[in-house]
Amino acid sequence: MAIVRIPDENRTLDAPAAITSHLASIGIDYERWEPSHAIEPNASPEDVLAAYSNEVEKLKDRGGYVTADVIDVGPQTPDLETMLARFNREHWHDEDEVRFIIAGRGIFHIHPRGGPVTVIEVEPGDLIRVPRGTWHWFDLCADRRIRAIRLFQDKAGWAPRYTDSGVDSNYEPVCLGPRYFPPPSAETRS
Ligand SMILES: [Fe+2]
Repeated sequence: MAIVRIPDENRTLDAPAAITSHLASIGIDYERWEPSHAIEPNASPEDVLAAYSNEVEKLKDRGGYVTADVIDVGPQTPDLETMLARFNREHWHDEDEVRFIIAGRGIFHIHPRGGPVTVIEVEPGDLIRVPRGTWHWFDLCADRRIRAIRLFQDKAGWAPRYTDSGVDSNYEPVCLGPRYFPPPSAETRS
């Protein structure tokens, strides 16, 4: 499950229902997907798309997406920091930004008009849809690793359009990492 924070209100949401309803209230679709069969960590893009074909096809029908691909980014990716610098400033697209995370993590900042910034740290199994026109920016976590399915209505619409608001500079792209589960208490330990 994603970790969702509203830094300006010093709030972190951890209940799944609270996360989904808060994200819906700011226009962000969020779902958890399970693969139809187990897939290897290094499965080919074709195998990844096949494992999630039901969900991908449903989403294509719903959102008018015509293509899906798999993006694979790691510390060894050439010009990674240059690529990241295109997306870690506040921007919007003429195209929905749809990502299903297969491996790694990433951090979306969403800036609703007239509302506080929401930070969404996505992890494997998370589907996020940022509708066209939404002000947002994206960073990788410190390990610089993400693998994700992307869906497109029209790849030409995906170029970032910058707001140049400077709002992004007020937020540190800090990932909290995999969720910490406290050990069971003495009462519940069996
Ligand atoms: Fe974007």
